Amino acid sequence: METGLLHLHSSLRYIVLAALLYAIIKGWKAGEQAVEGKERRPYLIAMIVAHIQLLLGLGLYFMGENGLTALNSLFDTGASLFSSLGFFGIIHFVLMVTAITLITKAHSLAKKNATHRSVVRLMLFALLIVLVAIPWPFYGYGSGFFPGM
Ligand code: HEM
Repeated sequence: METGLLHLHSSLRYIVLAALLYAIIKGWKAGEQAVEGKERRPYLIAMIVAHIQLLLGLGLYFMGENGLTALNSLFDTGASLFSSLGFFGIIHFVLMVTAITLITKAHSLAKKNATHRSVVRLMLFALLIVLVAIPWPFYGYGSGFFPGM
């Protein structure tokens, strides 16, 4: 089950990135206008996909080898924060939870009829954090661009 969860979490990164990009591009085009009615939908979709990813991530964190277990080993061994233990035990977890909080805040601004510009600013910031915190193969962590293939 854990392998299935990992593959799902890994593949969903592309949907998260696509949903964020779509929301940002749509919102960017609308500029300083207030968010109204159906215009909220791209922000809502980005938030839903991010929350599904959060749930899968929490599952992996508490049940898998690379979450809480990694954190314990990190403290036991005194390994570096930039080792695989530090990356999954702390960096990935903290940065992703921060990004998902920003996405949630952005959606709540959109519900309060804030301007697209202010919503997009938060979404952009979240996108940058997500891009940095994904364990890309060139970091030396994780199991590649398409695990299981
Ligand atoms: C937008 C949010 C997120 C994205 C895009 C994302 C993406 C990824 C990717 C691509 C991997 C590598 C999978 C592999 O090795 O094939 C991964 C691993 C992992 N993620 Fe996330 N993640 C996100 C949020 C989270 C959150 C919020 C948590 C924890 C609460 C989390 C916990 C984990 C854990 C524990 C692993 C390692 C799994 C293992 O190797 O056993 N992720 N994540």
